[in-house]
Amino acid sequence: MHKGRARAFTNIALIKYWGKKDETLILPMNNSLSLTLDAFYTETEVIFNETFTQDTFYLDGVLQDEKATKKISQFLDLVREIAKKNLYAQVTSENFVPTAAGLASSASGLAALAAASNEALKLQLSETDLSRLARRGSGSACRSIFGGFVEWEQGIDDHSSYATPLSSDHWEDDLAMLFVLVNDQQKDVSSRDGMYRTVTTSSFYPGWLADAPKDLATAKKAIQEKDFIALGEVTEANGLKMHGTTLAAVPPFTYWSPDSLKAMQAVRKLRADGINCYFTMDAGPNVKILVEKKNSKDVKKYLETLFDSSQLVCAYAGPGIEILK
Ligand code: ADP
Ligand code: DP6
Repeated sequence: MHKGRARAFTNIALIKYWGKKDETLILPMNNSLSLTLDAFYTETEVIFNETFTQDTFYLDGVLQDEKATKKISQFLDLVREIAKKNLYAQVTSENFVPTAAGLASSASGLAALAAASNEALKLQLSETDLSRLARRGSGSACRSIFGGFVEWEQGIDDHSSYATPLSSDHWEDDLAMLFVLVNDQQKDVSSRDGMYRTVTTSSFYPGWLADAPKDLATAKKAIQEKDFIALGEVTEANGLKMHGTTLAAVPPFTYWSPDSLKAMQAVRKLRADGINCYFTMDAGPNVKILVEKKNSKDVKKYLETLFDSSQLVCAYAGPGIEILK
């Protein structure tokens, strides 16, 4: 029996990954940049055993159906190939994050699975190799191998597409991200399907792609210079552009709900009142607000006048993967 356990934290992109140039290898159309967070994470145990006759996948105590298990099996096939071992596995995972609600469970989930598999089979993969492996499960997962600010270099092939931590002189420790949980139920259009539909049908997609490298450069400069306003502005603008592409997809769709707009409007009001904070959203209606730690209490206090306090979660910068004994 070969057993490994790992924890991985979610990350939220400030410059988004939205679209693939290679669906099988999961190579993105553009570089992305994220912040790993401490509030939401996944813990996964993987056991490979000679006696197993198939892969099984338990998520939050529930045995998963064929479709969900197939996704895990395909990922485990990559692991088996690296290990040159033909063993089935039992995967037991717990999400301390709502699943498939636009809160990046796929990032923490697949990063934890990659790290636990590495541990179980003693593959001794480097963090870069782990990032490449996690990417094959879910693109954004390659960034969750590392803590703090992380850039995913899109690359041109399997070897050259992986994430690296960005040096920031620990500036991320001065920041917070406030989550407005508008809806924690599973979304209708997964990130995978949403980005595919957008790339293949949206006439707005080329505009998104043309701006992404400029936005990335602006964000990296802002991090280097610890310029919160510059980072916030480009984060908000980049997220809006990503969501703009979905409106021109065929058929069109949006991840926004009335409460998402309410949260965005609250951020604009706070800014008008002199508190610097900026929003971003992923493939779901929940809104994430980037704010300096020193202002996070004020932002939360105002949001409590609009939302139930149970809908508000404050996260700080989180670490990379952790091996659990
Ligand atoms: P999210 O916004 O939560 O990342 P996605 O639609 O992008 O939503 O991804 C959700 C998918 O990620 C799930 O359907 C499942 O395939 C995968 N996933 C989520 N949690 C885990 C986990 N703990 N272990 C393995 N896979 C997971
Ligand atoms: C909007 O990484 O979940 O959150 O690679 O198909 O598994 P797959 O997609 P996924 O997409 C994340 C999209 C996003 C933006 C981001 O995290 O960069």
